[in-house]
Amino acid sequence: MDDKDAVPASVTVTRNGPYQVSGNLPLSRQVIGSNAGGESMRWEAGRDYPHATRYSLCRCGHSANKPFCDGTHQRIAFDGTETASREPYAAQAKLIRGPAMSLTDAEALCAFGRFCDPNGSVWNLVDASDAAAARAAFTRQTCDCPSGRLVAWDNATGKPVEPAYAPSIGVIEDPAKDCGGPLWLRGGVQLVGADGFRYEVRNRMTLCRCGASQNKPFCDGTHAAIGFRDGG
Ligand code: FES
Repeated sequence: MDDKDAVPASVTVTRNGPYQVSGNLPLSRQVIGSNAGGESMRWEAGRDYPHATRYSLCRCGHSANKPFCDGTHQRIAFDGTETASREPYAAQAKLIRGPAMSLTDAEALCAFGRFCDPNGSVWNLVDASDAAAARAAFTRQTCDCPSGRLVAWDNATGKPVEPAYAPSIGVIEDPAKDCGGPLWLRGGVQLVGADGFRYEVRNRMTLCRCGASQNKPFCDGTHAAIGFRDGG
């Protein structure tokens, strides 16, 4: 049996240190593509990092070898205390019902991807979701939310609409805001806390890599406010 079969894909938060990744998870840059007005419109795949079965990703924001850890967290005495809610998504989210689609919104998970904003915002589009064009925009924009703060639900089936992602990690870049963003866990990767807590597995999650989130281990958008750059 090779390592790929032997080790389940997971990301483990280490105490005041990096994320330890195991299970052969592909790593690539993912860029927020915007229109002339700076609105987030599409995800653009950037370069792939060389394959590795296991690797450590910087969580303090100060590695000289981002996105990988170089041990700087020890020198700067990084405080990586996990402060985020450990309640399941459903317990954190508000429900907004529209005529054909509904929206659930767990605001604390916002990673400032801004895909929600175009076309009058998903909070207004959901109210018009009985119209095909509004429904299509609502669904696309909600599915593009990297953190999974926003989830679209089909009222006819009662089921969420989720993009299909293979288990992988994206290193987000946000050229419109001239900053680097969080790590994007896609495809249902198990996240494990420093104390062994197994966070709810979700299709889309964003992890802080600038070190400044107040909602660790998740991104809270602070990377944009501090102009985080990774030199990539
Ligand atoms: S990467 Fe978003 S707050 Fe740190």
